[in-house]
Amino acid sequence: MKKIESKHLLGLEKISKKDIETIIDVGFTFREVLERPIKKVPVLNGKNIVNLFFENSTRTKISFELAEKRLSADVTNFSASSSSVQKGETLKDTIQNIHVMKMDCVVMRHPVPGSCLQLTNYVDVPIVNAGDGTHEHPTQALLDMMSIKERFGKIEGLNIGIVGDILHSRVALSNIYGLIKMGANVKVCAPPHLLQRGIEKLGVSVCYDVDDLIDWADAINVLRIQRERMGIGLIPSTREYRTFFGITNERLARHKKELVIMHPGPINRGVEIDSEVADSDQAIILDQVLNGVAVRMSVLYLLLGSKDFE
Ligand code: CP
Repeated sequence: MKKIESKHLLGLEKISKKDIETIIDVGFTFREVLERPIKKVPVLNGKNIVNLFFENSTRTKISFELAEKRLSADVTNFSASSSSVQKGETLKDTIQNIHVMKMDCVVMRHPVPGSCLQLTNYVDVPIVNAGDGTHEHPTQALLDMMSIKERFGKIEGLNIGIVGDILHSRVALSNIYGLIKMGANVKVCAPPHLLQRGIEKLGVSVCYDVDDLIDWADAINVLRIQRERMGIGLIPSTREYRTFFGITNERLARHKKELVIMHPGPINRGVEIDSEVADSDQAIILDQVLNGVAVRMSVLYLLLGSKDFE
């Protein structure tokens, strides 16, 4: 059985290139399982996985739950809005109460950066980060890289652009860590106030003109403006943002090149991306969603599984 060195999946900053390669490779095997008439393997039979979601989610929550069920694990879902967190219970007490009920793995989304790392102090089972504030979203970056590999047959040497609200984006950070490790060239593009100072130190190049990014890139990952993390707001209007940074139909038509368009979702149609682009053949957005189930199956199997499967 294939193995990874990591005990948890907290982010892609510290994980080895070899572990990323293994997760993606095994992800392709599970992608094949998802094409079978019976899309289920018994590899996590008897394991209990709890999904702790302290922040809203559509794709990640459903994707993890589906991945767990496809692996035959028992699944417990926890939503902060209907829990005793509303009565003032802390993360430590919440998780220790859940853990004493004999959980084998915790998947957590939380608005506080570093909260998944903090969780490793409270329980001794694998922790999977499903997005911790503005820090990391490792399974999103893994499914993005799997989708790039599926489309191009490789990741190394490709030019991958990331455009949008880089400053608030855990997806951007995990993609940067992962793609650089895998040998891609990464360029980020955003209004200057939506970029971290010194981001070049992570090994990326920076541009402020989305047309330059389109000229350069083999694929572009388009991010939404995260108004919920901006306080009073950092963009004057969505119309102005679309004019200067939007992946619009007219803009792509001017460039006349084959460019793969990605988006982690949720999409704000007509702001960072036009509907026609999101729904076009050059967009692989729904392939990303399907690969998300496969790559999450891979992560959970590699962290918890103990036997091979066919
Ligand atoms: N891509 C992503 O994390 O989407 P959700 O917030 O819907 O999970």
